[in-house]
Amino acid sequence: MDDLRTSLERIRGQFDREARAAGSSQELENLRVRYLGKKGELTSVLRLMGQLPAEERPAAGQAANETREAIEAALAERVAVVAAQERTLRLSEEKIDITLPGIRRPMGARHPLSKAADEICDVFLGLGYSIAEGPEVELDHYNFEMLNTPAGHPARDTQDTFYISDSVLLRTQTSPVQVRVMESTRPPIRIVCPGRVYRSDTIDATHSAVFHQIEGLAVDKGITMGDLVGSLQLYARRLFGEETKIRLRPHHFPFTEPSAEVDVSCWVCGGKGCRTCKGEGWVEMLGAGMVHPKVLVGCGIDPEVYSGFAFGIGVERTAMARFGIEDLRAMYENDVRFLSQFK
Ligand code: PHE
Repeated sequence: MDDLRTSLERIRGQFDREARAAGSSQELENLRVRYLGKKGELTSVLRLMGQLPAEERPAAGQAANETREAIEAALAERVAVVAAQERTLRLSEEKIDITLPGIRRPMGARHPLSKAADEICDVFLGLGYSIAEGPEVELDHYNFEMLNTPAGHPARDTQDTFYISDSVLLRTQTSPVQVRVMESTRPPIRIVCPGRVYRSDTIDATHSAVFHQIEGLAVDKGITMGDLVGSLQLYARRLFGEETKIRLRPHHFPFTEPSAEVDVSCWVCGGKGCRTCKGEGWVEMLGAGMVHPKVLVGCGIDPEVYSGFAFGIGVERTAMARFGIEDLRAMYENDVRFLSQFK
């Protein structure tokens, strides 16, 4: 019996020391298992009770229970203290110092060229057109031959470009996409093709060796020049305001007949003449015409049955007009002070 009491006291003392030393909930949980668990110290002491004479057992049982309760109580107290400490620590670690300045993420803006291109495409998407794309590294065959501009044709002079080989070049216009689409699709066709084009041009305020066009093409039965004028009128009104008028001047493109250059009435002075339109009242915006029968035949489309119109809009020109940009080089220099104005 005395042995048992000594063991219980030893266990109690040892537990108190270890409990005081335990600094985390996990350590306390380990202690609980070691002292109170099924294979714990207390349980193994209680097993000794079987060896005691019957009359000593009640007192021994009581002593063991008291020790167990004391350990449980001490443990509960320690668990509460340690849990509180842990919580305080966690909260202080999670604390945000709201007196620190935040991290500012500079907000980007869409590039004026992308904005202008989207605005133009949106007008035609609204008319049921879809977007088509073609390669920038193009075959002479598509960029010139199929567009009724054979080798030696004088129209090639105005579109000198960068050659990869005799038959491969950087496209000078988005018109080759017309041909690619007409070869692979049957009418009715209604497409707009936005993209980058290249010309061997000297760079100045209104010229660049790399610029952007949006080609438009509609081919169906009974398409007339009236449809072309109506569609371009709508484009001009949407981009430059409801009062805007368009004007067609006779022109020549090898792949359209008749062909026209299309002017838009000046959105600044309304046609009276000002600095923007250089006193003209009109600003040149695009080239257009009825698809040449030779081009249709080349693509396997019967010009006796089908007709179509095409146009090519300069995106730089449109962006300069829409956003009042005076030098197109500003659009390629990536100066944030310029670009951030288009938010
Ligand atoms: N591709 C012509 C150019 O770059 C523009 C154009 C397109 C003209 C479609 C007529 C029809 O000058």
